[in-house]
Amino acid sequence: MARLGRLVKTTTFRLAVLYTAVFAGSVGALFVFVFINTSVFAEQQTEAAIEAEVKGFQDTFRREGVGGLVSAINRRIDPNTRTDGIYLLINPNQQRLAGNLTAWPDDVEADDLWINFSIVDLQAAEPGLADVRGLQFLIPGGYRLMVGRDIREARAFRAQLLRSLNIGLGITIALGVVGGLLFSRSIMGRVEDITQTCRRIMRGDLSQRIDSTGQSDELSRLSDSVNEMLDQIEHLMSGLREVSDNVAHDLRTPLNRLRVRLEIAANNATDEKEKEEIEEAIADADGLLATFASLLRIARAEASLRRSFGPLQLGSIIEDVVDLYQPLAEEKGVEFGSNIDFSVTGWGDSNLVAQALANLTDNAVKYTPEGGNVSISLKAENGSAVLEITDSGPGIPASHRDKVFERLYRLDDSRSTPGSGLGLSLVRAVARSHGLSVTLSDNAPGLAVSVVFPPPPGPAGGAVTKSP
Ligand SMILES: Nc1ncnc2c1ncn2[C@@H]1O[C@H](COP(=O)(O)OP(=O)(O)OP(=O)(O)O)[C@@H](O)[C@H]1O
Ligand SMILES: [Mg+2]
Repeated sequence: MARLGRLVKTTTFRLAVLYTAVFAGSVGALFVFVFINTSVFAEQQTEAAIEAEVKGFQDTFRREGVGGLVSAINRRIDPNTRTDGIYLLINPNQQRLAGNLTAWPDDVEADDLWINFSIVDLQAAEPGLADVRGLQFLIPGGYRLMVGRDIREARAFRAQLLRSLNIGLGITIALGVVGGLLFSRSIMGRVEDITQTCRRIMRGDLSQRIDSTGQSDELSRLSDSVNEMLDQIEHLMSGLREVSDNVAHDLRTPLNRLRVRLEIAANNATDEKEKEEIEEAIADADGLLATFASLLRIARAEASLRRSFGPLQLGSIIEDVVDLYQPLAEEKGVEFGSNIDFSVTGWGDSNLVAQALANLTDNAVKYTPEGGNVSISLKAENGSAVLEITDSGPGIPASHRDKVFERLYRLDDSRSTPGSGLGLSLVRAVARSHGLSVTLSDNAPGLAVSVVFPPPPGPAGGAVTKSP
């Protein structure tokens, strides 16, 4: 039903309906023309026959007078030579002299000499009312003659014609609408294909291409152009990645060299104060190197291609992350527990997903004070893998839950804690390229982060959301 609703809204369907309306209009006009001509022609034929007969009677009257008319009428209505004519000759006293009508009709609608009336037909197989069209002939001396024809058949023919034309018109409209529906459905299917492919591309899978239908119409040409454009973009992006890899390498090497030199200088320093300052410079260089590495990682995550994606054993990825942070938590006096359903799987790049999870865990352990607790859980919910990391730290106020995903954004209270404000930016980049939904909420006290994976290899949209 919803599909039909969508179909009706398409441009193609509206066009088809418009064409059908125009076509039905023309066919209707043609039918009206045919109808008027046919029925008018039949009427004219009848009238011409009546007029010819009246003319004959006029001649008879001129030659033989009323007596001649009476015998002429009697000849006409003789059962052996009977025609379908209706005749009545009356004298000035309205008495019948000849004819097959008992009396002059009284329910007459007359226009000039032509009259229309109904009679009860007793000779018909099924006696009933017969419609008659008649012509009167006013004879000098007060006599009147009426010649008519039963027009039941002509009326029936007219009704039959009208019915046929209506059915024809109905079929025309039905064919137009059905044709329009089929036509729009086929066009809509192809447009839908293109839309779906574009959506998958926007979610990060640049390797997707629109299927070729092998036709050479506008839609196929559009698809081909889009595909060529995508080839071009993919080419440019891989070039860009290469450049940033080179820049990263070129900058990191001198930075590392600088750091080594500073270390040597620190070792050689004799003055304590001087040594302290050099060590601070080394810490700054470390921070720079770390920030640099994070920025590169985010850039890579943002440009990650679905080609490198595969099934993920989320349980073992989490286990590795837990192993990595367990010692740190112990050292800080933070209780660290996990509850993992190892049957749950995901879809993506295992390195990137592991980095994102490590960053979330890093935050939880880092911002939770001594005596607090951190826990990670993994379960399946409605066919999706759901990962939750909760801590008992200070949490993030609702008004900041969007902003913390921005690059270099840190809460004021965290400034004393080491970090560069890039951890959650990487999480966001991975979420976008993997179609994960990441939600921050209040753990009262602390922060609860929930990460929902799309069903593998699901084409769901990546989103970072905050709960109210
Ligand atoms: N579990 C948490 N509890 C409290 N605040 C948090 C938590 N996780 C993140 N934040 C806040 O969000 C900010 C951004 O986090 P993000 O991980 O991006 O950066 P960072 O941890 O400061 O630095 P980095 O991760 O680059 O070392 C943090 O500075 C902190 O203020
Ligand atoms: Mg962090």
